Amino acid sequence: MHAPQVVPIVDSVAVATPKPTVYIETYGCQMNVADSELMYGKLAAHGYAPVDAPDGADVILVNTCAIRENAETRVIGRLGELRRYMKPDTIVGVTGCMAQRLGSRVLEHAKHVSLVVGPDGYSALPSLLDGARKGEKFTATDFDLEEHYEDVVARRFEGVKAWIPVQRGCDYRCTYCIVPTTRGPERSRKLPDVVREVQQVVEQGLSEVVLLGQTVNSYNDGSHDFADLLRAVGAVDGIRRVRYTSPHPNDFSDRVIEAMATTTSVCEHIHLPMQSGSTSMLKRMLRRYTREEYLECVARMRSAIPGLALTTDIIVGFPGETEDEFEDTLSLCREVRFDDAFMFKFSAREGTPATRMPEEWTIPDDVVAQRFERLVATVRGISRENNLARLGDTVEVLIEKVARDGELLQARSRDFKTVMVPADAGRIGDYLTVTLSGTTGATFTGTPVVEKNDRRTLPLTVV
Ligand code: 5AD
Ligand code: SF4
Repeated sequence: MHAPQVVPIVDSVAVATPKPTVYIETYGCQMNVADSELMYGKLAAHGYAPVDAPDGADVILVNTCAIRENAETRVIGRLGELRRYMKPDTIVGVTGCMAQRLGSRVLEHAKHVSLVVGPDGYSALPSLLDGARKGEKFTATDFDLEEHYEDVVARRFEGVKAWIPVQRGCDYRCTYCIVPTTRGPERSRKLPDVVREVQQVVEQGLSEVVLLGQTVNSYNDGSHDFADLLRAVGAVDGIRRVRYTSPHPNDFSDRVIEAMATTTSVCEHIHLPMQSGSTSMLKRMLRRYTREEYLECVARMRSAIPGLALTTDIIVGFPGETEDEFEDTLSLCREVRFDDAFMFKFSAREGTPATRMPEEWTIPDDVVAQRFERLVATVRGISRENNLARLGDTVEVLIEKVARDGELLQARSRDFKTVMVPADAGRIGDYLTVTLSGTTGATFTGTPVVEKNDRRTLPLTVV
């Protein structure tokens, strides 16, 4: 995708110096993917050429996640492995949430790392790299509440959709979560800046945008709220699909739901993190809503948006989780009938309030594992039933990429279902109308619907 740049020979004697190459490996959430695109953009503007493999790169950056311990363990292992791709002068940097969390501790433990840069420090990357080339080491982890990287043109690698950060940081303080520590307080980009970026995305040939924020629907730039933003982005000429992630249930005002329902390009899917179905657990998690309030939010959405698909995040084994509380989570899944869920075993994060809860509240690993399995079975079962009921429906899909088997194309419906279509059904970036003709329970196969006026192009035997 982003192959090393071939530098042309300028004349018969002088050969242009090759650009230094940069490779970025990204872990974690979509916000990190968007941040990596910003870093590539910033560095490309300073003469670096992005490459898609670490082998021999002049700069290797690892953009990290800190949300669960296993995310950090993977990065530590990977940092060791990356050593084998280094040339003597390769600079290795660690960026993102783990960099913010551990700061200079990364430099102490990984001697081949020269830079540790948190999510608000990417504008300084070119100058930090210049310093690192002289043998210096840096930790840049100050928050910058004004930083939205407005002067950087992101270098996008996803084929059909653009990730657009509209808000950085988080003002909630869920007791399990490290994000407020690693990404700082909430701040929103100005609406006209977001709209301008969306217009650029259309000029680049993309028609789908995903608006990103930690609690994206609490977006407020001082003059506009999330409802204004949805309407403004949805009205950009050439945009056919608008999605957003992740909202907080408490920030779904009727205004926001109304904007979603009446802006035709906003897709009929909401990822609505629930975390637990038990009011007492939600209280210990400091989620600031009850089971009933969550259900009420779902009901308001469903009555305003027909055919709405709902997905969620759920944590199992949070401190003090009783069998009854866990059962409440299962029963809420059955009541809402989520289309899918990301499910996580609780991971204690240093410094979060959950780590200060009584020792005896810790749930033994075997209990967590067993509950996790029950939850997965429940969620997958419901999702399968939902999907079986959809067979025969006709939907619009956008072809996103070649499927993993290399033979089919992977497409997505507006309500976020993965649909496999035949390789000759179209090209990446095309919209198609398909009938959902089969399902594995998790994904669909789609049979393209032959439009009436396409018929004449088909052999008579088929017509
Ligand atoms: N342990 C397990 N899961 C967590 N999440 C956030 N923090 C933790 C943690 N400490 C989950 C939440 C959140 C998602 C992005 O990650 O479900 O919505
Ligand atoms: Fe973490 Fe809660 Fe903020 Fe989400 S809303 S980022 S879970 S603190």
